[in-house]
Amino acid sequence: MNTDALAKRLGGKLSLPSLPEVVVRVQNLVKGGNSSMAEIGDAIAGDPPLAARVLRIANSSYYSLRSPVIEMHHAAAILGLDALTTVVMQVAVADLFRHLGKGGMFNPRELWTHSVLTAQIAGCIPVRYMKGYKPTEAHMVGLFHDIGKFVMFDSLRGEYADAVTLAKKEGVPEHVKETEMLGFNHAEVGELVTKRWGLPQMAVKAVGNHHSPQKFKPGGDMTAVVALANHVAKDIAATLPKRESTHTPLDRELKDSLEIADDDLEKLYERAGLLWMDREGAGA
Ligand SMILES: [Fe+2]
Ligand SMILES: [Fe+2]
Repeated sequence: MNTDALAKRLGGKLSLPSLPEVVVRVQNLVKGGNSSMAEIGDAIAGDPPLAARVLRIANSSYYSLRSPVIEMHHAAAILGLDALTTVVMQVAVADLFRHLGKGGMFNPRELWTHSVLTAQIAGCIPVRYMKGYKPTEAHMVGLFHDIGKFVMFDSLRGEYADAVTLAKKEGVPEHVKETEMLGFNHAEVGELVTKRWGLPQMAVKAVGNHHSPQKFKPGGDMTAVVALANHVAKDIAATLPKRESTHTPLDRELKDSLEIADDDLEKLYERAGLLWMDREGAGA
């Protein structure tokens, strides 16, 4: 997608959020390459409420630390830079949309739970399907794949909520209904936002294409990895509360792109089920 053309098409209808300042500071320290873990830990510890939540997530079962970390420098050293940056982003970006209440059938809290679960599932996909990308990168893309929905709801409120409500009532995919009613969809908006936030190109593309199976590359790529995580997260949330375990079939394009082995997929569903049950502990 040509993001300049889309920005024009939005015609000032949406206000795109800036990345929270603490995330920019951490990103700059990491990008600079000369900062120590201690300096990065200090930048986070300088915002105590944020630091407390970062520690809570670091101590969730997802990161399976052997013993709990109670101090930021320790967390930075144990998690490593990539995972730490993603956790900081998770906490800070959740704050950006914390003020949003429900609108029609659009529920921001549920969407954030879905985003965190998708991120965790993406991070669990075996690396052989990732074409050289790292689980921490897959985690980050999973976290932001639906960010466009928050941005659209924040700007358009009832107009966006109506699109979600109708999509659910009619059983039509949300991105299709969004385009039909608003002229653009959350994947496109997500691409714009993640580009503005300076996320790596592969992340920007994966967010923008996560509902475009025709763009999945053979041999797997980040877009297909995130589409798979999204698929599994939706299945789990739809079936586990009812104590069912239904795996809806993967789209042909996704199957062809990743060629994921049946037992790898089965293990992914099992892990996803455990993560779903622990979602409160994961800081969702
Ligand atoms: Fe989506
Ligand atoms: Fe999603």
